[in-house]
Amino acid sequence: MSFYERHVLPRLLDLVMRDPDMAVLRARFVPLAEGRVLEIGIGSGLNLPFYRPGAVSTLFGLDPSDRLRRLASRRLGQVPFPVALLGFSAEGIPLGDRSVDCVVSTWTLCSIPDAGKALAEARRVLKPGGRLIFIEHGRAPDIGVAAWQDRLNGVWGRIGGGCNLNRDIGALVRGAGFAVDGLETGYLERHPRVLAFLSRGVGTPA
Ligand SMILES: C[S@@+](CC[C@H](N)C(=O)[O-])C[C@H]1O[C@@H](n2cnc3c(N)ncnc32)[C@H](O)[C@@H]1O
Repeated sequence: MSFYERHVLPRLLDLVMRDPDMAVLRARFVPLAEGRVLEIGIGSGLNLPFYRPGAVSTLFGLDPSDRLRRLASRRLGQVPFPVALLGFSAEGIPLGDRSVDCVVSTWTLCSIPDAGKALAEARRVLKPGGRLIFIEHGRAPDIGVAAWQDRLNGVWGRIGGGCNLNRDIGALVRGAGFAVDGLETGYLERHPRVLAFLSRGVGTPA
């Protein structure tokens, strides 16, 4: 791992991901989580203040990055429920089948090398009737924007810790066997369009 990836990127992500427009979306979707919750790619813990204290019984915060988990651990005082930070990849979730009520993923499916496998794992650990709550950026429907996403994807991945600009999030989530009622899509205003096309919603195992 390079100096940039180890020391610079985690702090940069913590800073960039505090964006107020993104916080508005966190405030809409994260409070939907209830019961035993798994957040994949918890990063520096920016969703923590948005969980409803009375609704969450336990949170498992999974992220392979030691540095980001360390930053997240500094925010644990913001929540009254127990949080277990797990240093694992979402492609191999260390939880039992049908053991959580909700899986939360925000701006993470872009960075997981095998996002399909991670979603299959999310499905495995969800209880029947459980929910996948997600806010993700990905491939834009506009041909011009998508072409730039394809062009920039390689170089962006090197700057952004393996982040992909051009994943079709709706197709990935549905392809992993989730039904999504009313998928919301659209550009986040005031952000570069290659990064701003968001898909958000709640999936249930189909
Ligand atoms: C752009 S950050 C988003 C962090 C956080 N979800 C948020 O909303 O602020 C992407 C996150 O995905 C995590 N990530 C990368 N590869 C992963 C994997 N294989 N499994 C789980 N998380 C992963 C990174 O460590 C990072 O925390």
